[in-house]
Amino acid sequence: MHLDTPHVIDVIASGIHDVKNSMFDALARVHVAKQAIQDEHAADAIPALAETERAISTSAGRLSKLLSAYRLARHENPVSMMPVELAGFLDDVMARVRESGEQPIRIALDRQGPDFWVFDRELIADCLVNALQNALRHARRQIELRIGETGGRLLLSVADDGPGFPDHFPSHADGTRSGVGLFIAHRVARLHRRQDTNGELRLDKDARLGGARFELRLP
Ligand SMILES: Nc1ncnc2c1ncn2[C@@H]1O[C@H](COP(=O)(O)OP(=O)(O)O)[C@@H](O)[C@H]1O
Ligand SMILES: [Mg+2]
Repeated sequence: MHLDTPHVIDVIASGIHDVKNSMFDALARVHVAKQAIQDEHAADAIPALAETERAISTSAGRLSKLLSAYRLARHENPVSMMPVELAGFLDDVMARVRESGEQPIRIALDRQGPDFWVFDRELIADCLVNALQNALRHARRQIELRIGETGGRLLLSVADDGPGFPDHFPSHADGTRSGVGLFIAHRVARLHRRQDTNGELRLDKDARLGGARFELRLP
């Protein structure tokens, strides 16, 4: 499976389109809540407000990804390479995923290989958080976060037992999902370069769980 990298302007336009839809959705629900309160059925406003909250929080998350996509496109080298202690890094990633909403599926962690690696902590954390959120959205009941080392590169993968990646990733403002997160991960991986080796993102079918496998390989 290959991720065509669409033009950054298309990615951003498509993301803005998604945010716009969610904001209109939030507006409609606020209207419902207001009406319920006016009609003195305040209790009926609660579910509408809860959905509004979800729509706004999704939009805020999308806007921050769009800003990252813009920054990655704008700056020559936004990557800051520092030694990262992997156990603490993974704890932080898992905590961010937990904070981002309800988590119906437990994420199994399989950590092997080194204790430290050199990469951009913030950018790689963003990529993994997005991959885990995607997995939570698509998995049936299993998600695995695996860390290891192969051929001198660090392997960070998120696998699930869902339907797997689609054959084609929507990338235009046609109402489909934007794919900003995977676009960013692709760019971030390529920007990790040491000596003559590049990082890369692979999107495959996971041999063991049967669903999607998101895999970052960092030199
Ligand atoms: N684990 C997964 N299983 C199945 N499809 C996935 C998975 N992760 C991502 N996708 C598909 O790739 C699309 C792009 O993902 P992403 O770039 O993270 O953007 P977003 O999460 O905002 O839709 C998703 O909308 C979905 O169609
Ligand atoms: Mg995503």
